[in-house]
Parts: sequence; structure tokens; C-alpha cells
Amino acid sequence: MKYATASLVAAATVSQVVAVYQQCGGIGFDRPTACDAHSVCTAINSHYSQCLPSSIPSAPSAPRSSLIQLGGVNTAGYDFSVTIDGSFTGTGVSPPPSQYTHFSSQGANLFRIPFAWQLMTPNVGGPINETFFATYDKTVQAALNSGSNVHVIIDLHNYARWNGAIIAQGGPTNAQFASIWTQLAAKYGRNDRIIFGLMNEPHDLPSVPTWVKSVQFVVNAIRHAGATNFLLLPGSSFSSAQAFPTEAGPDLVKVTDPLGGTHKLIFDVHKYLDSDNSGTHPDCTTDNVDVLKTLVQFLKQNGNRQALLSETGGGNTTSCETLLNTELSFVKSAFPTLVGFSAWAAGAFDTNYVLTLTPNADGSDQPLWIDAGYVGKKGGRVAQIDFVDSTQCGQDRVSREKGREG
Ligand SMILES: *[C@@H]1O[C@H](CO)[C@@H](O)[C@H](O)[C@H]1NC(C)=O
Ligand SMILES: *[C@@H]1O[C@H](CO)[C@@H](O)[C@H](O)[C@H]1NC(C)=O
Repeated sequence: MKYATASLVAAATVSQVVAVYQQCGGIGFDRPTACDAHSVCTAINSHYSQCLPSSIPSAPSAPRSSLIQLGGVNTAGYDFSVTIDGSFTGTGVSPPPSQYTHFSSQGANLFRIPFAWQLMTPNVGGPINETFFATYDKTVQAALNSGSNVHVIIDLHNYARWNGAIIAQGGPTNAQFASIWTQLAAKYGRNDRIIFGLMNEPHDLPSVPTWVKSVQFVVNAIRHAGATNFLLLPGSSFSSAQAFPTEAGPDLVKVTDPLGGTHKLIFDVHKYLDSDNSGTHPDCTTDNVDVLKTLVQFLKQNGNRQALLSETGGGNTTSCETLLNTELSFVKSAFPTLVGFSAWAAGAFDTNYVLTLTPNADGSDQPLWIDAGYVGKKGGRVAQIDFVDSTQCGQDRVSREKGREG
């Protein structure tokens, strides 16, 4: 919060007019309170008032692209040994900080940094472990500092579960789910380059509408905590891009943002390219273009909404180089409806992992990173990358992550 507050003060002092979504009042607040012409100072709580848009803009012909086009990579490690039932038995591994400058110098401007819920709050609904947070935050800051346009997704990587039980469907309460996010909102809530990934890959949910209510609960809690960040809202079936238009999408498009409008609510989708869409095989069998076209059409027809492909990837094979390149070309061409992508995965994975994008010890890149068009010669800048997908992409994250032990 420190870093962003400093820039807010500077901006307010220069113009004397407070920009939309910035603070304009609250107990102890002594900076300018006059909002920009198109917004109104609105009390969120006694400590925090904020300039909110005075009217919801009429439906634009294209989504508001207030997020720049994003492309980059997942840097895994703090999520290692979270299983798909939301259990966790590890200590996490820090992604090497050098990767952020490595990838951002090639044009990457998005890093997704997964973490285990149990590492951040050892007791469900309890306080953040500040020792762990300091470690995690060091990684987040290394990513942010690697480039002025770099965005970071902080990704709660728990499959809508804690130790085998589903949020609000036999497991943690919505309030316990909200607790971690209001605490993270207090830490990161003023930095628009930090995107909140509310939950990785919910799956096998007894009730999708109940899950969407949990999502709404957390969105409200984050805003009441004063955070204005972009939020990634996950659907069902491991955040499947394919299932989205028919499963969770019709409910998720109704989630509202206390800030007004919906342009800060981005849908989180995943898609791999292997035969069972699990992201566990080296060979790719689909380019996912039909799936993504259907998704784009759904998003356009339901309020011109936006989605981000936060996981896709393939193995070091000719089929993946070709099909990923086709997928990423489509993703790039579908901006701003598709905001961008982050490939799975680099970070603490070793270079034997089947989907590895971790640079080799000599600093050279995996062939796929270059040849699929993530970045580099064929793809140009990352903001013009390709992807991979699967309908049950998260089906077996455990076996995906086993590769690191190879
Ligand atoms: C807090 O985090 C540190 C560092 O990850 C860890 O050593 C410690 O055991 C954690 N505390 C609890 C209560 O889990
Ligand atoms: C990737 O595949 C190429 C061609 O088959 C091979 O030469 C190279 O060693 C592979 N790289 C890795 C990291 O497996």
C-alpha cells in the first residue's frame, strides 16, 4: 500500500482534482476532496471515501479496455502441493526473482503468482501469516519492479476448497473466504497493477449458482475494504473456457461491482491443448479457436464483457508449437474482449516439467516460449501471444506439478 499511496498523493497535489476511483475523504484524510467532473465522492466506510463514476456509461460498442493488453506467464511455486481437493502439505517454493526481468525484457507484462491458501492464512478465516506474506510480497514486488507496465495476478490457488471441503457448500463460509481477500485488499488495494485472482479452478461444484453467490460476497467485501483492483472471477469445471458460456457464465455475468459498472470484473478462464484438456501431456491436439470464438461471442452478447486466459500451455513438441501459435494468434486478435493470457508455467518448476517454460541454467529459453509465439522471434511482443487449452484443464494439477520433482 505504501508505494501506491505515495503516487496518489503526488497526483492529487498536482491537479487538486481527484481522479475516478481514488480516495476523496475519510477520517484523517487531508488531501483534495474534489472529484473529477464525471465522478462523485462516495463514502465506502468512515475511513475511506472514493470518487465513483456518477453514471454508468451507456453500453459501449466494445468493452472498455482500461486494462492494457496483457501477455505473460505463471510463475508457480507457492502453490506447490496444493491438491485439487484444496488440501496442502508443503512449504511452497519461491519462484526465482530473476525470471521477472528475464521475461519482461522480452515484452511480457503479466505474471500470475499462485499461492496456497493455507500458506497465507494457516487457519481458515484467520489472520495472514505475516512471515509468509513478506516472502510472497518480495516476489510480487520483484515482478512489479521488472517493468512499468507489468501487471501481477495474485492467485488464490485452492480450487474453491479448503482441506477437501467446498466454500459455502460444506466447507469454509463465505465470510472465511472473504477474510483472506479483505486482508489482501488492505495490503494491495491501491495498486491497479495488481489483479486479484479470486480463486483458481473451482470444479465439481454441487451448485454453480451457490458458487456465484460466494463470488459476489467476496467482490462486495473487497470493495468495502476500499480496494479498487481489477478482479478475476472464476467459473466452474476448472475455470474451463469451454464450459463458461453454458455453465457459470450466465450467472457470473450478473455479478455486480459496488464501484459501479462491470469493467473491473474480468472473467478468469483456462484452456489447455492436449487430448483430454488436462495440460499434462506433451502433445497438443487442438488449437482451441472454436472454443474461444464461442466464448468471445458469449461475452459480446452479455454486456461486452472481458475474459483473461490465465492458464494455457503445451509441451516441447512440434504439435504444441503449431497449435499454441494458432491459439495465441486468436487470443491476441480478440483484444479487448480477451484481455490477454498467461502461459503455464515457469517459476519454481524445473526444466524437466512437461509444460515447463522455466529458462535453462544458461539463460536460454524453452523452444516453446519462442516458437509458439509467446514472445520472441515468431510472436513479436508478448502482447501478441498464443495459447493452449483443455475443457478440464485443471483435471490433474497434481500430476502437472509432479514434473518439478523430475
Ligand atoms: C508462517 O510462515 C512461516 C514462513 O513461511 C512459517 O515458517 C511458519 O511456520 C508459518 N506460521 C504458521 C503458524 O503456519
Ligand atoms: C525440445 O525439443 C527439441 C526437439 O525435439 C530438443 O532438441 C530439445 O532438447 C528439447 N528441449 C527440452 C528442454 O526438452
